Formats: sequence, structure tokens, C-alpha cells
Amino acid sequence: MDLKLRAPDSDQHSILLPEAASKLSEPYSGTLTSGNGKEYVIKSNIADLFTKKHSYSLAQQSNHFGITASVYEDLWRNQSISILTGESFPIEKEKELLTDWLEPKPGGLYLDVGCSTALYARTVKKISADSSVAAIDFSRPMLSEARKKAAKESVDLYLIRADAREMPFFAGTFDGLMMGGTLNELTDELKVLYECRRVIKKDGLFFMMHLLKAGSIAGKLLQGPAGFGGLQFWTIEESNALFERAGFKVEDQFNKGIVCFTKLKAI
Ligand SMILES: C[S@@+](CC[C@H](N)C(=O)[O-])C[C@H]1O[C@@H](n2cnc3c(N)ncnc32)[C@H](O)[C@@H]1O
Repeated sequence: MDLKLRAPDSDQHSILLPEAASKLSEPYSGTLTSGNGKEYVIKSNIADLFTKKHSYSLAQQSNHFGITASVYEDLWRNQSISILTGESFPIEKEKELLTDWLEPKPGGLYLDVGCSTALYARTVKKISADSSVAAIDFSRPMLSEARKKAAKESVDLYLIRADAREMPFFAGTFDGLMMGGTLNELTDELKVLYECRRVIKKDGLFFMMHLLKAGSIAGKLLQGPAGFGGLQFWTIEESNALFERAGFKVEDQFNKGIVCFTKLKAI
């Protein structure tokens, strides 16, 4: 299936991202043309629809280095929940929770928002081979790493470089969304959540993992400097108020220390 995208500069025009671009084991490069004649580059399977340059927070900047992208998943992400909770929480458990709560179905279309190396997108595509999965991030090195990992695992994904504040998708495109850890890094979290609500179908499910405001003195001491780097943290009540304001209902939720998993439904 070719993926229909919304042209970044005009919601009146579409762009078709060919299915061939999602076959990550076969390099695909070329040009995408929107209905109004504008051209966008697709290089090594990654469609570049990131048109407006923004200033980045320190935390966001770090994701644009090749070295960060190359070690991110193996050195940090696979252990991150155990490190952050202080309890054993294998990555397999998180993947199981993701697929249980997202309930991917054959023929469904799913989106990983702020995907980094596309850990969630790859997991969903592996468990639900008959679904289609797209992943967006504004960091090219992260998307390149996602491509490498997915190709190695023979997983097909649509990889798109875009800003989550202005997603290149039409309303009601996706059956489900996933976001792992990205909420804390956003500079405009409500805008991104509104975009999430716009691009998901009504009743679509949204798997969210994010970090809460620490209650302990040690946690507060650590989160203070993280705030200067651009990271934000909320209490559970504040988080749920954000989700509800954007048009999502909390269907299920639990936290282990500062790590919070939430199953949201688009209302
Ligand atoms: C904490 S990492 C996400 C990790 C990934 N979801 C996972 O589960 O491993 C945050 C990612 O979001 C991306 N990001 C932050 N703000 C973004 C934005 N406005 N648009 C697109 N990507 C963004 C960063 O480049 C980074 O790769």
C-alpha cells in the first residue's frame, strides 16, 4: 500500500509515499512530488518532509548526533526502564505491554511518534505483519539507525523525517499511535498531542510511555538540571489533564516509580 501523506506546506495537497520505500532491505531514493508540484527528497528510504527549521532544546540537539543514535538503543533504551525504576523491567515486558494495549490488527495503520530507532514501530510490525507501520522523527541520524535495525530484522516500515508539531498526515489516518519517552522531550507537548488526536481515528488506541515528576529528594535533584536541558515532567494528574485536553480518554494506566504507561483512547 502506498502511504498517503499531507503536503507539509498545504493541507489541500497530498503526496504518495510508495510502498517500495517501506521495504527497508532494498535501498530506495528519489523525489516525491506533491499535488501542487513541490518536491521532497527521499533518500535511503527516508522521506524528508521536515521543511521548517526550529531551534532545538539541549535534549533534542543530542538526538541529532550520529554517535547518540548509534548507541541509543543498545546502551540506553533496552535497559532504561529498569534503570529509571530501580527494579528489573525487561524490554520484552514493555514490548508485550505495547502490543497488548495497542491491539494492532491486520490491515491497520499505526504511527510511532518521535520514534528514535523505531523500537516501538519495529515491535508492532513484527507482531502484526499484516499491518502497516510508519515512524516519524526530526532526527535524520535516529531514522538512519532505525532503518539499519529494521532492515537487519527484515521489518518493513515507512520512515518519515517530520516535525510532530505539524504532522504530514491527513485527519483520521491512523488506527493507533505509540509514543515512548518522547512527551518529556517536546517543546510544545500540547500542540503535539493535538496533532496526535487529529491524525488518529476516533476510538483509535494510543500507547504512551512517559516519565513523571519525581517525588523523592534525589529524583527532584536529578530532574532539576534535566529541566534546563529541555526535559519536562508532570504528575499523573497533570499528565492526564494534558491527555484529556487533547481529546484522549485514559483507558488503563500504571506507573513504576517515575515511569508511567498509559493506554489512551481517542474520543
Ligand atoms: C526520548 S526519544 C524517543 C525514544 C523512542 N520513542 C523510544 O521509545 O525508544 C525522543 C525522540 O523524539 C524526537 N523528537 C523530539 N521532538 C520532536 C518533534 N517535535 N518532532 C519529531 N521528533 C521529535 C527526538 O529526535 C528523539 O529521537
